[in-house]
Amino acid sequence: MRTLLAVAGAVAALFLTIAMLGTAGWTRPPMAQQQTGFRGTAMDVIETKANKAAKIEANQAPAPADPAEPGGEKASAVYENVKVLGDLSADNFNRLMASMTEWVAPEQGCTYCHNTENMADDSLYQKRVARRMLQMVQHINSTWKENHVHEAGVTCYTCHRGQPVPKNIWFENPGPNAGHGVIPRNNGQNVASPQVGLTSLPYGVYAAFYAHKNTPEDAIRVNATSALPETKGKPIQDAEKTFAIMISMAQSLGVNCTYCHNTRSVADWSTSTPNRVAAWHGIRMVRDLNEDYMLPLSSTLPPNRHGPMGDVPKMNCATCHNGANKPLNGAHVVEAYPELAGPVASADMPAGVPVQPATAPAAAPDPAMPAPAPKP
Ligand code: HEC
Ligand code: HEC
Ligand code: HEC
Ligand code: HEC
Repeated sequence: MRTLLAVAGAVAALFLTIAMLGTAGWTRPPMAQQQTGFRGTAMDVIETKANKAAKIEANQAPAPADPAEPGGEKASAVYENVKVLGDLSADNFNRLMASMTEWVAPEQGCTYCHNTENMADDSLYQKRVARRMLQMVQHINSTWKENHVHEAGVTCYTCHRGQPVPKNIWFENPGPNAGHGVIPRNNGQNVASPQVGLTSLPYGVYAAFYAHKNTPEDAIRVNATSALPETKGKPIQDAEKTFAIMISMAQSLGVNCTYCHNTRSVADWSTSTPNRVAAWHGIRMVRDLNEDYMLPLSSTLPPNRHGPMGDVPKMNCATCHNGANKPLNGAHVVEAYPELAGPVASADMPAGVPVQPATAPAAAPDPAMPAPAPKP
């Protein structure tokens, strides 16, 4: 009996093996490779060709609207309540309204932001948020042009993708729900969180690293800078937070660690890629946008848009990047909308509206950061 069972088992296993080999999924899929560092350092982004194609497909920029007829009266002369776009011609103003509708609320249309009885009315919160968003986009495309967004720039579509609420936003994380009275003391970690790639690393890192401009310069740094300890050094928990934010950053851009670091010495700027410098500025930009544009929307956004801890939605790298190393595959989206490239001077702009400087303040304000290695 035993022998019979063993033979039957062996035969079944053989047939299953043949069946598995014969069906799809056992051959290695075609791979796409992109070298990001010096040869022999294993600095490559390696992904399946299918994955790469899907990513490119998912990040297509929409075609820009046809240009408006030049000339004509200014929007400020035609309309009653324009505070940001007053200097555009009325035709160009309407072109932008149509594009904004496509980018942010294609299903809802103009009524998502407007009371159609009176277009000048500001009663809908969406319109008041959109006005601030216009200023934010102008700020990103001017102040952060040199150090981060370059000629590509951003439009509303970069983040919104045809949705009033962008897909990738974050709130302060209240931690796991203590269903039955016992609150687990987990030190803010040890639960698989999608924010940190389903690892059990600390899940509150966005609030720690992305919310405030005055975050200490060395908040993310954990590597010792001298051979022997000279001071107390940082606790292991800080290293865990650094790894958590790095995993999130890599995922947001659809890359791995070697897109920015040479892992023989992760902290060393001189062997890092230029992408790491772009990322360094990206971190500062995210803090700037969250503090100056998102946090002040607290009283404008209704309570149902606030998070479980009552805070406003905020952004991270994925809000713009959406899993691609360059948002919208690097398309120069702002080219066809020069009015979004920077603040439009307007005669009737109220004194309270801040006019942003056209260029970034100081480039790379970090003395500890030497020039990055050139791209090989
Ligand atoms: C995502 C929000 C949003 C959508 C959608 C939107 N608008 Fe607007 N609209 C605004 C904002 C913000 C202003 C004020 C701009 C400013 O202050 O410079 C404005 C102002 C206007 C004005 C000027 C009204 C006045 O007299 O002051 C008109 C006209 C207008 N929009 C038309 C439209 C039309 C037509 C559509 C649909 C095709 C549309 N808008 C869709 C946000 C929006
Ligand atoms: C850098 C990313 C980013 C860009 C660019 C951007 N937005 Fe937003 N927007 C956000 C985030 C984040 C929110 C908060 C989501 C929420 O309201 O829950 C938001 C919210 C809004 C809302 C409120 C939606 C709601 O129902 O709560 C409107 C309207 C809006 N944006 C319009 C615009 C317009 C118009 C532009 C272009 C001029 C624009 N946004 C560009 C990130 C962006
Ligand atoms: C998109 C670029 C980018 C990617 C991808 C990336 N990093 Fe980083 N990493 C940075 C930047 C920028 C800093 C410095 C941050 C700062 O100083 O504010 C940094 C800092 C670090 C540090 C701290 C170094 C020090 O000075 O103590 C470690 C450790 C680290 N990264 C590990 C990783 C790991 C592990 C991964 C992959 C999971 C990764 N990084 C992916 C850009 C990146
Ligand atoms: C407001 C939108 C926005 C946000 C938020 C943002 N980026 Fe970017 N980023 C861009 C744009 C646009 C480009 C493309 C610039 C270009 O084409 O030269 C870019 C380019 C980059 C590049 C260069 C990629 C390459 O292959 O050349 C890196 C690295 C990068 N971003 C990292 C980050 C990190 C890390 C964060 C979050 C800490 C971040 N970005 C947040 C808009 C954004």
